[in-house]
Amino acid sequence: MPGMNYRQFYIETHGCQMNEHDTEKIRGLLLQYGFLPASGMEDADLILLNTCSVREKASHKVFSRLGELRILKKGKPGLVIGVAGCVAQQEGKRILKKAPHVDFVVGTHQYHSIPDILDGLSLADRAGVPPKEPSGRIRTAFAKGPSPAEIKEIERGTPYRANITIMEGCNKKCSYCIVPYTRGREMNRPADIILADVREAVDQGYSEIQLLGQTVTSYHDPTEETFSFLSLLREVSNESRIRRIRFVSPHPINFTDELISLIAERENICNQVHLPLQSGSDKILRKMRRLHSREWYLDLIGKFRDNGRHIALSTDIITGFPGESDQDFEETLEVVREARFEQMFSFKYSVRPYTEASEWEDSVPEEIKSERLARLQELQKNIQIEEHRKLYAGKVFEVLVEGRSRDGKLASGRTTTNKVVNFESEEPPGAYVKVKIEKTSPNSLYGREIITSMVQPEWS
Ligand code: 5AD
Ligand code: SF4
Repeated sequence: MPGMNYRQFYIETHGCQMNEHDTEKIRGLLLQYGFLPASGMEDADLILLNTCSVREKASHKVFSRLGELRILKKGKPGLVIGVAGCVAQQEGKRILKKAPHVDFVVGTHQYHSIPDILDGLSLADRAGVPPKEPSGRIRTAFAKGPSPAEIKEIERGTPYRANITIMEGCNKKCSYCIVPYTRGREMNRPADIILADVREAVDQGYSEIQLLGQTVTSYHDPTEETFSFLSLLREVSNESRIRRIRFVSPHPINFTDELISLIAERENICNQVHLPLQSGSDKILRKMRRLHSREWYLDLIGKFRDNGRHIALSTDIITGFPGESDQDFEETLEVVREARFEQMFSFKYSVRPYTEASEWEDSVPEEIKSERLARLQELQKNIQIEEHRKLYAGKVFEVLVEGRSRDGKLASGRTTTNKVVNFESEEPPGAYVKVKIEKTSPNSLYGREIITSMVQPEWS
């Protein structure tokens, strides 16, 4: 059907949950624009890469992916290729120079202009009239500063989790991090709008709410400073129909005693908290401008341990930051041994443009960065083996089914502590089931569903 040209889209998403959620917004915009989701990249008339630039490797991946798409486009000249996300924001028009087969580039604050960009490229028209060939007119959209328009057309990627942005951007100045450049300064959304979004999602049947922001914990209402992240989390948690509340990404320095107590008291706030450590050495933490010391961080962990509710802690660590000595790295290992995180994301330091640290010598050789990373990961693997055995084996947990295991044979879901659990079941995504853990591994758990009868005895 000629009118169906340029009508299917495919979005490939890299990076963090904020990018995942931006994809949910772009998907909503494209559906409203008259496009349909393609079942695979090969069927698509529009391919959009939503990119991540937080580490050099992620950024390189975009260009190798674009190389593959160039070949795809050779066999399909009408194919339209767009680049969104942090690499788009960082590189801007340079992407069009480096990869001339890219039709448009759109920055992180400009997704609402995607329909206009597509109009400009004459890709589709809403009346279903056969579209013209792309005119070859290249469009880009960038802006710093506040997003001029909110996107309401969110097409959520799951039937159970509603991602809700509470703030975007970052006012901190960690010396290694490009995010303040790619996402701009903090922009907080008004609390009443966030709470209305939460109610709407709950009315639609979403049982898990995930509050999103680059530094969620520094949230405050834009007009009422005293309405903080603590106030917002309390309000969200008061909505009793929500079974699980998560929030990403927090910064350790924002965890006040009140916030820790609230998490301990409220059952619908998940007992899992991410506390990015980055390094265990005070010297390195200072150079990283992390705003916390090793001792302060360990105290914070102590507060989480002493609050009466088990809270699974996770972290991020960078190895080989400029100036990191063997001694500094040993101090990181010590903190990791003491903290006993249940999950860790660890990375070799890579120089990012526009950051303070990019002006310093990248002094730790690549082999040493890798060696330290491997030692750190080995230590963490052993901690996870032990912790999983101790905390989970033989016990029963509530699991929210999220899909199927990789081979499709088992149901796969998560505990409130964010552990992946695989088990035999036909329950669909969104179901809550009780699972007894029978086997643990460093990264996931295996169990057996406990079927509880839905029929209550008459006298109950
Ligand atoms: N090099 C390596 N890792 C980095 N991260 C951020 N910037 C860099 C960098 N330049 C890591 C941090 C952060 C996570 C999202 O990515 O650990 O918490
Ligand atoms: Fe990647 Fe950070 Fe941007 Fe998220 S905010 S997409 S992790 S660079």
